[in-house]
Amino acid sequence: MRQQIVAGNWKMNTTPTEGFALAKDVIAQSAQSPNNVELIICPPFTHLAEVAKAVRGTRIHLGAQNCAMWAEGAYTGEVSAKMLANIGVEYVILGHSERREHFGEQSAILLSKIQQALGNGVKPILCCGERLEERNAQQHIAVVNAQIESVISGLTAEQMQQVVLAYEPVWAIGTGLTATAQQAQEMHAHIRATVAKHFGDAQANATPILYGGSCKPSNAAELFAQPDVDGGLIGGASLKASDFIAIAQGFKE
Ligand code: 13P
Repeated sequence: MRQQIVAGNWKMNTTPTEGFALAKDVIAQSAQSPNNVELIICPPFTHLAEVAKAVRGTRIHLGAQNCAMWAEGAYTGEVSAKMLANIGVEYVILGHSERREHFGEQSAILLSKIQQALGNGVKPILCCGERLEERNAQQHIAVVNAQIESVISGLTAEQMQQVVLAYEPVWAIGTGLTATAQQAQEMHAHIRATVAKHFGDAQANATPILYGGSCKPSNAAELFAQPDVDGGLIGGASLKASDFIAIAQGFKE
């Protein structure tokens, strides 16, 4: 049985004060979500050390939204995976479409970042997803498979055991448009087949694949009911603790 996961990507939202209060709310309400669902929150860098202390000893896991592609040194403004690991960060979102678009993050950079994360015991949540014009041109499956393949083909089988994948169609992010459960299932099955091609069926069956893109309490249950959808990577709806927990309730106990 694969790990079911609901992860909140707060993006560049909340001040540290607001974020700490949100984390406290999530902790307080987390008992209302099924026990077998792993809950992860991914606040901005400025919040992490404080939130790490708050989540310690609770069922909430902590993730970052990025890390440097280098280990350390003269890289002004960057934050290393080692720094994240040191304060108790367990996950890091990598390859989000917003970072691909605004910061030019492509496969070679992502592979370096994943190596840094894994080398420091931080699990990558590797994102992929097509643009609307790519879907309209029927290229979505090829685009997403290429995004995944170009990165995971650089990993060892042992490393792949630590990787979580997330399918986030760009046209569904922050737009209110959600992939239908069938569209999500179709893509997730292709992604799992790509993992199987490189690492075999056992690893493919063990890798959690999350869906992201306007996932909310009203559509989570239908998405999570799909056989290859193992949870969600939640943007806007993760900024309200009750919505975030309601999404996790999309999984049955
Ligand atoms: P929304 O849930 O706001 O559409 O964002 C999804 C996302 O990008 C999570 O990483």
